[in-house]
Amino acid sequence: MLILAIETSCDETAAALVEYKRRSFFIHSNIISSQVKIHSKYGGIVPEVAARNHVKNIIPVIDKAMGKVNPVDIDVIAVVNGPGLITSLIVGAETAKALAFAWGKPLIAVNHLEAHIYSALAKTKKQIFEFPALALIVSGGHTQLVLMKGHGKYKIVGETRDDAAGEAFDKAAKLLGLEYPGGPAISAEAENFSISSIKLPRPMIDSGDFDFSFSGLKTAVFYETRGVKQPTKSYVSNVCAEFQQAVIDVLAVKTQRAVNKYKVKNIILAGGVSANQRLRERFAGEFGKRLLLPGKGLSTDNAAMVGVAGVFHYLRKDFIDIKDLRVDPNLNF
Ligand code: KG4
Ligand code: ZN
Repeated sequence: MLILAIETSCDETAAALVEYKRRSFFIHSNIISSQVKIHSKYGGIVPEVAARNHVKNIIPVIDKAMGKVNPVDIDVIAVVNGPGLITSLIVGAETAKALAFAWGKPLIAVNHLEAHIYSALAKTKKQIFEFPALALIVSGGHTQLVLMKGHGKYKIVGETRDDAAGEAFDKAAKLLGLEYPGGPAISAEAENFSISSIKLPRPMIDSGDFDFSFSGLKTAVFYETRGVKQPTKSYVSNVCAEFQQAVIDVLAVKTQRAVNKYKVKNIILAGGVSANQRLRERFAGEFGKRLLLPGKGLSTDNAAMVGVAGVFHYLRKDFIDIKDLRVDPNLNF
């Protein structure tokens, strides 16, 4: 079956064609029009600007994703209906509805966070989850540990009480005078570190539950750097390395405890922060073959992951009527 997937929850306008054949996924196209350059001028995403750019980009992006494929050959359209920025989500949802109506195709609503989880099945060798599975979603808006007992069966067992992990990277980068998005900027700087005497906290590492808190870590970066008038490059690199290590330590320790408690068979690391190489290495070291990671380019927002998640909705005939599709900026599991 062939699925057209659409994603516009934040600042990437994305469309993909994903085929599911003989229990395998084939990503025929995965088009992303990124607005990073536009928003980096403002040091973060401006919702109104994001929505306007989605409107401008959505048809060309879908057109490119479709390539020479005839709409007749599409079996279903999947679209993200939340969580995200409401004005951004509306553009994707309304476009999907219009296409479903015009082409006479069924429609599937996909949760953006669920799509991140399923990104671990695309472009990888092993394309199945063994349940129970535990997903750590680390993105710009979320940090959640999600227990999965089956496809579509989610239970949040831990989440952040304040900032998300990606948000902490973005805010710490701003304090250090680095560009937006902060994750790639901090991880690149961290690679240059020498020997660091800088010590930052590992918030809630011993809290006994599976919740996270990253705003204190960002505040610690503020106190560490505020007295430094002209930070040298090596100082910035050292702060970045310690900051990155603090985030990784907390994520790895908490995930390991949840893995032991729930006796999970697969661990999934997903969301924009899962692009971080050191984080991937740490998880690979902790969990070995039980770990599933998004393939290259599939950690940050894209539509291929929406297509893969959509396949499982399709298999259980979980369609939504055009008139019932609503976007929800706070959609949860
Ligand atoms: O999943 P995503 O693309 O969008 C949301 O759903 O939020 O995640 C974006 C987040 C940003 O906060 C960005 O700084 C972070 O992912 N990120 C990274 C890296 N690449 C992106 N964080 C750490 N290391 C990276 N290499
Ligand atoms: Zn995302």
